[in-house]
Amino acid sequence: MTSYKKFKFLNIYTERHISTIQINHPKALNALNTKIFHEFNRALTMVENDNNNRVLIITGVDKSFVAGADISEMVNLNQEQAKAFGEFGSEVFRRIELLHIPVIASINGFALGGGCELALCCDIRIASQNAKFGLPEVGLGITPGFSATQRLPRLVGTGKAKELIYTGSIIDAQEALDIGLVNKLTTREELEEETLIMAQKIAEQAPIAVQCAKKAINSGMDTDIESGIEIETNHFAHCFTTKDQKNGMQAFLKREKTTFEGK
Ligand code: CAA
Repeated sequence: MTSYKKFKFLNIYTERHISTIQINHPKALNALNTKIFHEFNRALTMVENDNNNRVLIITGVDKSFVAGADISEMVNLNQEQAKAFGEFGSEVFRRIELLHIPVIASINGFALGGGCELALCCDIRIASQNAKFGLPEVGLGITPGFSATQRLPRLVGTGKAKELIYTGSIIDAQEALDIGLVNKLTTREELEEETLIMAQKIAEQAPIAVQCAKKAINSGMDTDIESGIEIETNHFAHCFTTKDQKNGMQAFLKREKTTFEGK
């Protein structure tokens, strides 16, 4: 396992094809401040530059995934500063959403405000049964600022998103599962293992095909269905330029197992 010591608020380690970014700011329940966003940018560049990476896991230390944006940093912002803070956080989250490899949020506790928004920009969400979700921003006199008004309705539907955002209600992990906000629930003890099992399953597939599927889904969600189908066809065709497609299909026909090289 490779672990990187250059970060104050993030623990980062890579094992085989899976990298993990763990937010480590337990005094504030992993609340996100500007320094953490800067570290995230550096960490994402490292993940992008390592060709071995096939999946990224994002999680938090202790009892919290992320309890929101840091309220002590926001309390005295003026309009211009708030705009810059919102833009910066949203840019980092968009970068996570568009990362070339799938990102799994492994949600170990509070996922509130900016923490829920961080989970929303990931491809897949696995939560422990003690996790809590919500967008309590209106109770602080603000709207969500890192894109929940855009991503939550796309994931759970407009009606449920409006209810959660207008009331600021905190929901438990079972309700989050029921409304489609999370993909899977586990016990707190099994969260890391269950997340790794899913990450490993993804990492065993043909990496270029997985990355093309991610691009096709993301681009397709932002366009009309005709354009989306065309986008998919182009990615599908691109896969036929890869060694993994030839090896994968030949292995199937010979009833053999193949290991994908990402080429
Ligand atoms: N920002 C800054 N500090 C935070 C924080 C946050 N979002 N969430 C928790 N903390 C700090 C607390 O101030 C406290 O610090 P001290 O020990 O120095 O007093 C410490 O973390 C532990 O928190 P609590 O004592 O409150 O812990 P608890 O277990 O009693 O409650 C909680 C946990 C329900 C998550 C509660 O901390 C809470 O409600 N936190 C705020 C949640 C929130 O409103 N998040 C949205 C923020 S706004 C946002 O995210 C905007 C955006 O979209 C861009």
